[in-house]
Amino acid sequence: MCGITAYTGKGRALPFLIQGLEKLEYRGYDSAGITLVDNKELVTIKTKGALNALKEQLSTLRLDQKAGIGHTRWATHGIPSNLNSHPHTNASNTLSIVHNGIIENYQSIKEGLAMQGYTFVSQTDSEVIVHLLDYYYQGDMKATLQKVMSYLEGSYALCVLNVDEPETIYVAKKESPMVLGMDESSAFCASDIPALISYTKDMISLEDHQMAVLRPGTIEIFDQQGQKVEPKIIHIPYDLEAAQKNGYDTFMEKEMHEQPYVIKETLRGRIENSIVMPELDSIDLHEYDHVYLIACGTAYHASLYAQYLGREWMDIPITCVPASEFRYGNYIVNDRSLCIFVSQSGETADTLAALKMCLEKNAMTIAVSNVLDSSLARLAHIPMYTCAGPEIAVASTKAYTTQLVLLAAMMVKLAQNSGYEVKDIDQFIYDLKQIPNLVKKTLEKKEIIEQYAKLLKDQRDAYFIGRQLDYVNVLEGALKLKEISYVHADAYYAGELKHGPIALIDQGTVVIALATQKEVAAKTISNIEETIARGANVILITAPGIHSEKIERQIKIEAVHPYLSGILVTVLLQLFAFYTAKEKDCNVDQPRNLAKSVTVE
Ligand code: F6R
Repeated sequence: MCGITAYTGKGRALPFLIQGLEKLEYRGYDSAGITLVDNKELVTIKTKGALNALKEQLSTLRLDQKAGIGHTRWATHGIPSNLNSHPHTNASNTLSIVHNGIIENYQSIKEGLAMQGYTFVSQTDSEVIVHLLDYYYQGDMKATLQKVMSYLEGSYALCVLNVDEPETIYVAKKESPMVLGMDESSAFCASDIPALISYTKDMISLEDHQMAVLRPGTIEIFDQQGQKVEPKIIHIPYDLEAAQKNGYDTFMEKEMHEQPYVIKETLRGRIENSIVMPELDSIDLHEYDHVYLIACGTAYHASLYAQYLGREWMDIPITCVPASEFRYGNYIVNDRSLCIFVSQSGETADTLAALKMCLEKNAMTIAVSNVLDSSLARLAHIPMYTCAGPEIAVASTKAYTTQLVLLAAMMVKLAQNSGYEVKDIDQFIYDLKQIPNLVKKTLEKKEIIEQYAKLLKDQRDAYFIGRQLDYVNVLEGALKLKEISYVHADAYYAGELKHGPIALIDQGTVVIALATQKEVAAKTISNIEETIARGANVILITAPGIHSEKIERQIKIEAVHPYLSGILVTVLLQLFAFYTAKEKDCNVDQPRNLAKSVTVE
């Protein structure tokens, strides 16, 4: 989720680079930098922190160069620091690169280059790229880049500056976005449309494995074999604000649609035939008496999911507690406790306080955070990261589903490390790999959800019911709905309805029921029928093979391992909350009374 800008032309490069980085600020970042080239010399200036810190450093310099590359970094490998900031240069300062994405095989490349005498100044995966280019470069950058691309595993959007060709920028792409544009005297590119939109509305979206060569007033595109291909021009019909939302009306909508990509990024390098999490190699649950999962809000729901999986696969006590309760409850924590903390921001006051308490009691701690080097990640013994990128909408969507997949993989890993047999493991891992694609298909069901959301237009209340794993999903579905649409939403175990809540069901009451778990689906369906008998309008979400003739509004998720169905259900419930909020004319991105990061108790 880094931001990239690059320019070559007849005018000064710097203003273009900076305006582009400013337009990408909404993506969030922790450091920024630029390299400019002129007279066979590269000038690189980079710094940790806000773009203003970089601008301040630049303000005292006279920089008239006509080509350059710029970058804002959202850290994934290596803490935010001056050295880890991009651009990265080679030792002789003749090459400079900016990179967005994750190079999965950077460790092995790094080891190979180290044997050739290369030294590394950063902890990033990206730095290997510039040294690899340096290693192979013999005067033909296009051929060199092509060769380097063939060695890189993972994802990249990449720009290269080279003192030998100060007017040329080489660009490469795989699984990370890159858009290009030009006018008669310049050519430019960026990782996202907003950075270019004040300059052109006609852009080229580089495709995977393609390379581009930018020179003032020209762009050439090449395929993987180095053959020239005709660029496909796309016209962007919207303005800057819409472009920052990628054409969507709200950040929440954009972030929901980013889920296939960020889930893939989160799992990248983590699943082969089994789960790859070397951070957890040393954890054997037999050394612990108790596992705690501790978090707040949506992250607490993700933790409940992990608790469920853990209990299915292992026989160690696993307890999930909201951080605000854990702090004041009398839980037994000592050096035989494994405490897992989950937080998008990594800065939530209650979660942090609970972590500090556990550290004082000598517990082993793991933090799952979406922000590299967050307070939580820094304090815990083992930091683990989701790769959702910055989440701007207050209601968490992509951060939650990335937590679900990471925690699912973690639970498999912990169970296997500790010698527990995970039933159906091959199918589970196979289906986990399919999740990005299945989420994509789930998002395509949005029209039907939009229709169903109209049921709540004049309603003040909604009830969500489910059993077993579906109960975790109803909790999250109800939270999302109340948070952004202000509809009072309660989540109940379906079997508990009869014990009180059914008194609330009346003519027209909306009930959202989940029945994706085969063993208990029939039971939930009979609970649903009881609500229909009292006049409820029911929306039923089921899995293939589960059906009820009597329920008019039904939607089926894609076929998937039952333990993963919740991810697809969640996407439907996010859409449901979103369309209800739209129907009620609510501010979807900034609901009242809520803050993105709750840093006070
Ligand atoms: C709901 C939501 C909140 C957060 C909670 C914890 O959509 O976003 O419930 O999940 O405030 O925040 P983090 O995950 O940053 O600790």
